Amino acid sequence: MTGFARRAVAVVFVAGLIVSACAGSDDEPAAIDPKLGGEATRSATNRNAFGLPVKGLDDDQRLDFEVGDSFFNQNWVTSPASTKARDGLGPTFNAQACSSCHGLDGRGAPPIDADDTSTLGLLLRLSVPGTSPAGGPMPEPTYGDQLQDRAVPGVKPEGIVAIDWVSETGSFDDGATYELRRPKIDTSDLAHGPLGDDVMISPRLAPQVMGVGLLEAIPEASVRAAADPDDADGDGISGRINLVPDPHTGDEILGRFGWKANVGTVEGQVAGAFHGDMGITSPLFPDENCHSDDPSCVAAIGGGSPEIPQETFDRVVFYNRTLAVPAMRDFESPHVRSGAEQFGTVGCAGCHTTSQTTGPADVPMLSEQTISPFTDLLLHDMGPGLADGRPDFAASGTEWRTPPLWGLGLVPVVNGERFMMHDGRARTFEEAIMWHGGEAQAAADAFAALDADERADLIAYLEAL
Ligand code: HEC
Ligand code: HEC
Repeated sequence: MTGFARRAVAVVFVAGLIVSACAGSDDEPAAIDPKLGGEATRSATNRNAFGLPVKGLDDDQRLDFEVGDSFFNQNWVTSPASTKARDGLGPTFNAQACSSCHGLDGRGAPPIDADDTSTLGLLLRLSVPGTSPAGGPMPEPTYGDQLQDRAVPGVKPEGIVAIDWVSETGSFDDGATYELRRPKIDTSDLAHGPLGDDVMISPRLAPQVMGVGLLEAIPEASVRAAADPDDADGDGISGRINLVPDPHTGDEILGRFGWKANVGTVEGQVAGAFHGDMGITSPLFPDENCHSDDPSCVAAIGGGSPEIPQETFDRVVFYNRTLAVPAMRDFESPHVRSGAEQFGTVGCAGCHTTSQTTGPADVPMLSEQTISPFTDLLLHDMGPGLADGRPDFAASGTEWRTPPLWGLGLVPVVNGERFMMHDGRARTFEEAIMWHGGEAQAAADAFAALDADERADLIAYLEAL
């Protein structure tokens, strides 16, 4: 046997990352595996860090990726147009391109203040009490399930969204203070009269998109096995699955994507985005998005039927699925290593699961990978401070899906700024953590009880992801 084995290497879990430490030598720092996306990891640290394909694509797949990339990034235009490939925008819409909200495959930013009325990073989902025939939220009767604040010429935008921020301060146990802000949402210039009195509004920030192919490849059985709806293990963290319809068959499947795990597949998410965000019909959603009885909307000229044909649509789906996850940086720094340990100790990994294994997938780099997505894909009650009060399939008005944390450290490089939580209220990691309530209250309290150096190490770890 080698010296390696004689030194009795103990494999331990620190924050769920598999690290190997030599038994008996406390000063030997634990090692972290920086390849958060397994073989689907790339190590760029520049503005295009979220935009690289996984390695190992063959020539045909490479072409699919590149064509998908161009349809993700370029603006769609109003019909009739000289370009037949990208026409059909609207009649109502929020943005002209996927990349308007997911800039460089990254995140959106919420409005700065009430005078900033762009919704390119933050959109509003709408519903009224009740359940739709598909088992989901009941769309607002006039405006549908999303407020579209832009429209083609001759059609009225549905309304304008204004957000004001209300601030409050809090303090850590050592007396250091922090500021939290929450959005106050207002709608105006509503084209078809006021929203229903019982309307429920859920603001949603555009998240980064890379890594969704890996999240899709996590076996449903693993996600179900981690669910603990009645908190049988008594750790204060339950975790429930969402169930949503398969867009092809209508059968119930596991929800994985969106802030409430309200969509089951990347294909369903992409089709929903084309339809709801841009007004582009696809093979999955062939009808124009005219929920109002606005005859000008119904009469608006479309850009073909469907407006994005199957082959192009499939390429945009493939593009999203094969965007690689960026590797960790600074993973050898002692601060980052100590932060990884804090992440486990204060209980963050109870939901932000640090190790998952994907099942078989059509793309080799997505198949059978050990990954660190930092999500259990489950719904958690996050307390009244974050509640939108709007159920979404099985998710209640206080529940949110644990978001993946991979790549979050690079968001400022890619997008210039970094806003977090479902509505972009958090401007720093401290704020994001101190908003955690409900099932995550104990973790937030444990973070607040750390000393300043320990808090800084935990943040250094998040910055390195
Ligand atoms: C108006 C802004 C906007 C546009 C345009 C937009 N998205 Fe999104 N995207 C969002 C928001 C908001 C979410 C979260 C949705 C939710 O919680 O229901 C999201 C979620 C996603 C996700 C799931 C990420 C995850 O981890 O759950 C993918 C994939 C995605 N979008 C792809 C696309 C594609 C492809 C397009 C273009 C066809 C597109 N988006 C256009 C705002 C946008
Ligand atoms: C009970 C489950 C749970 C625990 C424990 C938990 N989180 Fe979260 N975390 C969530 C959920 C759910 C959200 C999304 C909430 C929202 O958007 O309103 C979230 C959001 C975040 C975000 C923002 C991510 C984004 O994409 O905007 C960060 C950063 C984060 N958590 C870090 C932590 C850290 C650090 C800890 C430990 C101190 C922790 N979380 C503990 C469930 C949890």
